[in-house]
Amino acid sequence: MRTFRIAPSILSADFARLGQEVSDVIAAGADIIHFDVMDNHYVPNLTMGPMFCEAIRPHSSAPIDVHLMVKPVDALAAAFAKAGADIITFHPEGSEHIDRTLGLIKDAGCKAGLVFNPATPLSYLDHVMDKLDMILIMSVNPGFGGQSFIPHALEKIRQARLRIDEYTAKHGGEIWLEVDGGVKVDNIAQVAAAGADTFVAGSAIYGQPDYKTVIDAMRAELARVQA
Ligand code: DX5
Ligand code: ZN
Repeated sequence: MRTFRIAPSILSADFARLGQEVSDVIAAGADIIHFDVMDNHYVPNLTMGPMFCEAIRPHSSAPIDVHLMVKPVDALAAAFAKAGADIITFHPEGSEHIDRTLGLIKDAGCKAGLVFNPATPLSYLDHVMDKLDMILIMSVNPGFGGQSFIPHALEKIRQARLRIDEYTAKHGGEIWLEVDGGVKVDNIAQVAAAGADTFVAGSAIYGQPDYKTVIDAMRAELARVQA
């Protein structure tokens, strides 16, 4: 039985009340805090640097999952590790030396993961499975919250699930399969059925007045998949 985790993206939170928004969503049942870093270079938007991560750290009893949409990656990955990140993921297009960047994140004591845009091939996984704790499949093009789920991501999730199961059956360990973009109560079951175990949701959760109602509804949908 797969463990399912819900990871609200604070990109859609009220930035003027970020600490409270983090603790509120954890009280509402979040498992992970998803933290979107955009640099106005790799993606056409600008969000939060390591100081924000350091600032919210005391407000989060949950792991902080830093999604780096930046180029270059290495210096920022190190800065986020220092700022209290638990998981750091990056896009292969952002790094000249993917294996080195993964090593650097692990050496800093964090879990490491690779992120796949809708048009990025999974072949980037071929030689680095041993260094991965997470694979993140984007179901939107990165840069903004509130976009619609791209349906062909489902096939990619299935393929990533096969790769993970094959690898862990042979070598042991655990690799989480996260999906990010357009995940909502009405499609989370489909995403889970395709093989995902970790679900990022920004606007679906922070766009509603009662976070617990949304997270409970998501868990009810996930329970249907588990049954
Ligand atoms: C998009 C970000 C996502 C985003 C998801 O580039 O990586 O994490 O916040 O937001 P929703 O759930 O609204 O699509
Ligand atoms: Zn993200």
